[in-house]
Amino acid sequence: MSGEQPITVTVNGEPRTAPTEPRMLLADFLRHELGLTGTHVGCEQGVCGACTVLVDGELVRSCLLFAVQADGAAVETVESLGTREALHPIQEAFREHHALQCGFCTPGFLMAAKALLDAEPDPTEAEIRDHLRGNICRCTGYTGIVAAVRAAAQQLAQEGDRGR
Ligand code: FES
Ligand code: FES
Repeated sequence: MSGEQPITVTVNGEPRTAPTEPRMLLADFLRHELGLTGTHVGCEQGVCGACTVLVDGELVRSCLLFAVQADGAAVETVESLGTREALHPIQEAFREHHALQCGFCTPGFLMAAKALLDAEPDPTEAEIRDHLRGNICRCTGYTGIVAAVRAAAQQLAQEGDRGR
């Protein structure tokens, strides 16, 4: 007996049903069952933040959650942001400010930044650094990442003003 059970998760606004085993991690479910490989798996022990996604609006390390625990939940992954042709302002700011090199950590940083800016549209540098301290980058030195989040906040505020 395989022990597989189907679960349904709303991923990036779309209900997705796929089989999972009780021991399957949410990160592996997203990558291997749903084909959403934007979520990266680094340490697999909750340290690096590469696997960060939003579950019901909360930042979650998807390597620490079993997929069955997300049954019925709404999950947002990095694929919910922009497209190659039309980057999300946070992605565009990361590109502009050289906030990525190898890019392995980037999906986790983007989702952490999105959660921050959803909750606090005008964060201080200290707030940005504090919020991102659970995400590890081995390439950039963080300065570009912090600058990118500040720039994204400004861009999103401008877009909000234009939308009024
Ligand atoms: S892979 Fe989940 S925190 Fe590192
Ligand atoms: S860009 Fe390489 S680990 Fe962050």
